[in-house]
Amino acid sequence: MKHVLSVLDLVEELPRLIELTSRIKENPRGYSSALVGKSVALIFEKHSTRTRVSLEVAVSSMGGHPLYLPKEQLQLGRGEPIEDTARVLSGMVDAIAYRAYSHETMLRLALNSDVPVINALDDEEHPLQALADVYTIQELKGRVRGLKVAFVGDGNNVMVSLMLAVTSLGGDFWAAIPEGYDPPEEKVAIAEELASSAGGSVRIVRDPVEAVRDADVVYTDVWISMGQEAEREKRLRDFAPYRVDEKLVSHAKEDFIFMHCLPAHRGEEVTPGVIDGPHSVVWRQAWNRLHTAKAVLARLLAPGLVGAPFE
Ligand code: CP
Ligand code: NVA
Repeated sequence: MKHVLSVLDLVEELPRLIELTSRIKENPRGYSSALVGKSVALIFEKHSTRTRVSLEVAVSSMGGHPLYLPKEQLQLGRGEPIEDTARVLSGMVDAIAYRAYSHETMLRLALNSDVPVINALDDEEHPLQALADVYTIQELKGRVRGLKVAFVGDGNNVMVSLMLAVTSLGGDFWAAIPEGYDPPEEKVAIAEELASSAGGSVRIVRDPVEAVRDADVVYTDVWISMGQEAEREKRLRDFAPYRVDEKLVSHAKEDFIFMHCLPAHRGEEVTPGVIDGPHSVVWRQAWNRLHTAKAVLARLLAPGLVGAPFE
């Protein structure tokens, strides 16, 4: 069974998924029956706007049936093991998307599921976001290869998935991360390997100006991810020099684009002048979550129409 738990599960697929997304975006009606007869369970332990709505609309607009299942309304929320939940759902639905606090729970679900499990964000990665991110870069810049993509902020789930996606496509990925918030070393090592075979590079630095200088893309994410609320005061202090403001982005290329996975906290990780300014592409990026979600679901559940996944 092929699951989508990490960008690494999609690396081989990324160029084809980007291409399929373009086709679906141009001609959504051509895919309106792709998932007829298919049901997809969407289990959420945490809040979501984009991921939930994009998956729900992706499934229903391709003729399938999405089931939005907040954890607290499942027996899972009353202590039923995730393994038992996986076994039961495997006999009833065709795929499970799961937003979890812990990657370990994600793995336990996948290990016990006979249908594909899609990571809808956990503490380690956010692969659906990264796919929409590289798709958006490709759509606006025509390529990822050779572009400087600068991430400023926390070495978190979104940063790790973006790093893996950009390096696998031959981009030059720079991240400015404060001390104590680096991404896991093993993920950086994998990104270095991906970069060396795809012709890109990866650099983790402390200085935001160094990362953003001559960047084609400037990207940030929240300083306090879901589940880290108790660390709020310390994080606000530690990340203050990493705010993406007009002064910082003045070091980027003239035609840079600003990206953010959203939700954003204006005045924390980004100023209104940047996120609401002329270089920001965050709405397009968010809307592309729908088209890219459709591409992933079609590859997993409609191989007759779009080709078998992970060939
Ligand atoms: N970017 C993203 O995943 O947003 P949601 O938390 O609203 O799904
Ligand atoms: N890093 C953020 C992303 C939200 C989409 C979080 O995990 O809360």
